[in-house]
Amino acid sequence: MEIIIQPTAEEMSRVAARVVAKTLYAKPNAVIGLATGSTPLGLYRELVRMHKEEGLDFSQVTTFNLDEYVGLRQKHPQSYHYFMHENLFKHINIPQQNIYIPSGTTDNYEAFCQWYERRIVECGGIDLQILGIGSDGHIAFNEPTSSLGSRTRIKTLARQTIQDNARFFDKIEDVPVYAITMGVGTIMEARKVILLANGGNKAAAVAAAIEGPVTSMITASALQLHPNTLFIVDQEAAGDLKMRDYYDWIQEKMPDAP
Ligand code: F6R
Repeated sequence: MEIIIQPTAEEMSRVAARVVAKTLYAKPNAVIGLATGSTPLGLYRELVRMHKEEGLDFSQVTTFNLDEYVGLRQKHPQSYHYFMHENLFKHINIPQQNIYIPSGTTDNYEAFCQWYERRIVECGGIDLQILGIGSDGHIAFNEPTSSLGSRTRIKTLARQTIQDNARFFDKIEDVPVYAITMGVGTIMEARKVILLANGGNKAAAVAAAIEGPVTSMITASALQLHPNTLFIVDQEAAGDLKMRDYYDWIQEKMPDAP
């Protein structure tokens, strides 16, 4: 596990964008796992900038999104389909057929989830997975007590997550209660994982994920068992880390920081 602490969310996003770009330079047809929510917005803005100004090429890239709300049509402004098209896909040169996002409106969720898992494997597996983290320590929508071996499936959102996400909806009753989400086991198969977090409301979850026990109560803690995980967090999200000095020291001594 590597931990990079940046002064601001903007710098966190720039470091993350450099990791994505490095992956694409090394493997132009990489498979990238994507997250939604407010955390990766700066990263997506920076990737769009790199595409427009520096020619970062997405023409051979395939993407798989982590999750989608059940019951929201693709055109719903709070659906993750809409989010991804507005904030990333419509600004870069990724072919439409290379974009995979879980369906929130299929009439057979079980078959869809199996197909989604199969497509990831058929596309060669995820080279780089981008994650945010919930204030309850979730990754994707793997809420506390989700199996650390779980696969893509429907999850009931925790009350905390519904409250956290109510800011995107007119009223809290509009937040869907169910989501279709990759499992922790699905995420753990990615070759490399980067988890981004900014803001003081993530500090406890970040500390628990990095320095607490591996537990299904904080599903992000499963990443302690992943061989290639990078946490990129801002000052505030790093606020509860006990080993902070050590992480800074490692970065200071690292010859090839991203
Ligand atoms: C979204 C996702 C979630 C979010 C998390 C943090 O695709 O998988 O796990 O990353 O809920 O959300 P924000 O970034 O809005 O704080």
